[in-house]
Amino acid sequence: MIVAANLKTNFTRKETNEYLAELDAFVKAHNISQEVLVFPAPSCLDYNNTTVAVGTQNAYPAKEGAFTGELGLVHLEEFGIQTILIGHSERRHILGETQEFLVEKFNFYKELGFKIVYCVGEPLEKREAGKEVMMEYIDAQYRGIDTTYENLIIAYEPVWAIGTGLTPTLSDIEEVHKALKEKSSAPLLYGGSVKVTNAKEVMALNNVDGVLVGSAALYSEHFCTMINYAEEL
Ligand code: 13P
Repeated sequence: MIVAANLKTNFTRKETNEYLAELDAFVKAHNISQEVLVFPAPSCLDYNNTTVAVGTQNAYPAKEGAFTGELGLVHLEEFGIQTILIGHSERRHILGETQEFLVEKFNFYKELGFKIVYCVGEPLEKREAGKEVMMEYIDAQYRGIDTTYENLIIAYEPVWAIGTGLTPTLSDIEEVHKALKEKSSAPLLYGGSVKVTNAKEVMALNNVDGVLVGSAALYSEHFCTMINYAEEL
């Protein structure tokens, strides 16, 4: 199982380091063999020496250069970061990243052998428009993406489930995951209002290889409980 935390625009560097230290201690104390991944805010990347893998929430497809406000490869290399989140709905919808730009990022970091957690997911109106429309929308998010890339992890995150406390039913999650597994055999995470109260049953579903957790992961004890659930499954 892969248990991942997207910390989004939360925690200072100091808080992030404390958080990572707590996870590290938990993973060591419980001999956790699951893959634990954390995506801190960009300014919180640091020289960490932990059992927990740290990835970046974003980076520009360039080594360095004139890209105001962006991180380049040099900023990731400084801290040994080799994992990147691409296609998160907040970057697609709030920051306006297009599929073409995401493909550019994907290809740049794929060439470098990065582990890529690539997010897909439909907004509410597409889900409400029926399965065909919804799957067409998700299909378009696979356009240009090398679904056979060996270091690819896909995260299915319905936009309407992110930060809302709403989730699809377990059978809906299972159905979408089954369809997405036919598009790529890469590990497939579910994300969107995963909490300690539902994480175990979500991770137990067929074709769910882990979870990508936002708000609930901000509580280290909650996130550690989810890691423990993954270990138990
Ligand atoms: P929430 O867990 O807060 O719904 O966020 C999910 C998410 O966007 C993870 O990337």
